[in-house]
Parts: sequence; structure tokens; C-alpha cells
Amino acid sequence: MNNIVLTNIKQLIGITKNSNEVKKGSSQGHVQTLDNAYLIIRNGIIHDFGPMTDCPNTELTAHDCTHKLVLPMYVDSHTHLVFAKSRSDEMKMRLHGKSYQEIAEAGGGILNSAKKLHDMSEQELYDDAHIRLEQVIKNGTGAIEIKSGYGLNIEDEMKMLRVIRILKQLSPIPIKSTFLGAHAIPEEFKNNKAAYMYLVCNEMLPRIAGENLADYIDIFCETGYFDLDDLKQVIEAGDKYGLKAKVHVNQFSSFGAVQLACSHGALSVDHLEVMTDEDYAVLKKSNTLATALPLCSLFLDIPYTPGKKLIKNNIPLVIASDFNPGSAPSSNLNLAFGLACSQMKLTPEEAFNALTYNAAFAMEIQNEVGSIQIGKKANLIITKPANGLEDIPYWFGENKIHNVIV
Ligand code: NIG
Ligand code: FE
Repeated sequence: MNNIVLTNIKQLIGITKNSNEVKKGSSQGHVQTLDNAYLIIRNGIIHDFGPMTDCPNTELTAHDCTHKLVLPMYVDSHTHLVFAKSRSDEMKMRLHGKSYQEIAEAGGGILNSAKKLHDMSEQELYDDAHIRLEQVIKNGTGAIEIKSGYGLNIEDEMKMLRVIRILKQLSPIPIKSTFLGAHAIPEEFKNNKAAYMYLVCNEMLPRIAGENLADYIDIFCETGYFDLDDLKQVIEAGDKYGLKAKVHVNQFSSFGAVQLACSHGALSVDHLEVMTDEDYAVLKKSNTLATALPLCSLFLDIPYTPGKKLIKNNIPLVIASDFNPGSAPSSNLNLAFGLACSQMKLTPEEAFNALTYNAAFAMEIQNEVGSIQIGKKANLIITKPANGLEDIPYWFGENKIHNVIV
């Protein structure tokens, strides 16, 4: 599939001339399309496209796309794809009336994942993650960010990041890795969070950065986890090693994390289920991207990030899966697309840009993927016969993908 011409494409969706600027406000809803199109791929790169009437004669194998749409693959800028085992037992606890936070306090949650991960070898972790990644790609994801954060000690955090590094080397899609040492406070530091923070910033981070194991840094800033002071430490420590921040904030409460992250130039603030007027005001003035995680909202039955209001406030919106065993055991961005429309009230175009073009900015790979643009990677979704882009969120939970090209 490295050299091929797609012909008779019913509609080519998500065309851009350049990727200089993130889409926000009214442009979040602008998607350029071309009916009855061709697209030429050479060496895995989008070489040329245009109306079918202009399709040149080439030596390339033709792949007929009659009745089908062609669009850029999704970019998943927030995942925890490397993890140990399922935590389906916690779902049962929740269905017996326990909250996500109560389960965490009872030794479940992230600490439970860390215990399980400690007992697994690097090879086992890799094998499982690799299988998940293959499924992720089949579901239409053409670039992915993956976090550590289920190690919570230096050896296990590095083990996770080495697994991500091998995935990066062997995977057909771009991968970015994020160090999330400050994901939960390990049992042995329960009464001494400061000591754990010291370990994260002054022992784990220098070794991880020294081995080039991370592209970004993250923290779970939330009541019962890490506070504003910890957030500041993590962002400043990341700065020292050239790692920009992509942070978990405002999932259950708003207490100034958005303000702090934006004023320190974070690349993205993720979750944002709980937003105050102040949070909108700060985001509006910053260059920080807002990331919504609708699969987490669905699974935990918590509010959806007010995506429509973010767009109305001229704040660039990204949508990602948050794929993880605790709060979002799904990596399916087709479903996230459906939820973005039915629950967050986004138009299909707004949601599509949040899942593709804007999401690429949240991984700083906007010149590589995220739209149909000459020179970008030809990581493409070919749909089953469809009327238009709206068919994907409309047939929510169904699979409208015929195949993907990576
Ligand atoms: O993004 N909120 C923190 N981290 C993950 C959940 C991790 C877990 O429960 O394992 C999240 O939702
Ligand atoms: Fe997350």
C-alpha cells in the first residue's frame, strides 16, 4: 500500500493546504472536502489528489473507492495503552455502588494497576500492548500518545517507557511517550507525598530524560491525588529537561490547575469535565489546547467536557480516548466521535477536527498527520459506503471503516 492510487472516492474529507494554525471558534467546524476524487500515495506519503476528471494515468495499482469516503486517520493524543491487566472487577464494585474515588481509596484504581504491572515482565507488557495497538489501528487511529504512570517507582516507570520505545520503533504509526510518574501516590508514600514528588522530579525524571525515554510530562492533578504545588513542580522539572506538559486536570474538581498549567505554557490540559468561568477565561488567552475524553465520561458516568462551550469561547478543542483499564477501557475513537456529537452536541465537522487535525497539534505532529495534505503521511481511513462524514457519529458504536491504510 506504499504506492497506490485511490480512485472514484465519493468524498475526500479533511483537506488542508498547510497546518500552521490550530482550528478554533468557527474554524473548528470547517472541513474542506472534494467530491468524486482521486488520491495518489507514493512511498506512504500523500503525493497528489484532485477531482477524478483530472486523475493522471499512472503505473500505480488502482484501488476503487466508489461510494466510499476517504479521510485522515484519527490522532489519539491521550492514552494509557501500556497497562497490565483488566480491572473489570472494579466495574462490578462500581455497579454495587462504589465511586471511582472510593474504589481508589480501597486499594483499587491506579495502585491496583501498578501492583499488577510490577509482576509482569517487559516482554509480557509489550506483547499485550502490541496486540492492543494493532486493534487501535484497525479502528482508525493513525498516531498515538502513550503514558507511563502504572509503575510509580523508578524501575517500573522505566519498564513502561521502554515498552513504549519498542512500540515506537516497530509500529507503523507515529507514537509519542509521556512520563506520568505523578499518577497516584504509592502506598509507601501515603503520608509523605513530598518525598514521592522529590523522587519523581529529581530521581526518575533525570534518568528518564537521560535515556530519552519521554517526549512529554504529565501529572494527575486532582483532589486526593496531586495538588497545585505538585503540578508546578512537575511542569518546572519538565521544563528543565525540555519536556512540555500535557496534564490531567479538572476531572472531578476545579481549583486553579488550568490557570497554573496555562501560565506555564502547557501543551494541553486534558479531561476538563468540571469547568469554571475563570477556566474558560484563562484558556481563551493561552496557547494551551483543551482535550476532552468522552469515552471516560461514558464509562464513569461523569459529566462530558463542555466541548461546545469551549468552541464558543474560541478555545481549540481536541478529543482523545484516554484508553486505560480504570476509567476508559475503550480505544474506539469512532465511538468517541458518536458521543462528541450526541452528548457534547458538536457538529460532525467540529468533532472530526478535534479528533484529527487539532489532535495532531496536541502531539506536535501536525506536519506529519491529521489531514489530507500533500507531503503528509498517507494514514487514511476508507469507509464502507456512506452518505457523508455524519455517517460515522450517526452509526455510533457500529463500524463504518472498510479498511485503513498506514
Ligand atoms: O485519565 N485520571 C487519571 N488517570 C486515568 C485513569 C487511570 C486509571 O484509573 O487507571 C484517566 O482517567
Ligand atoms: Fe488519562
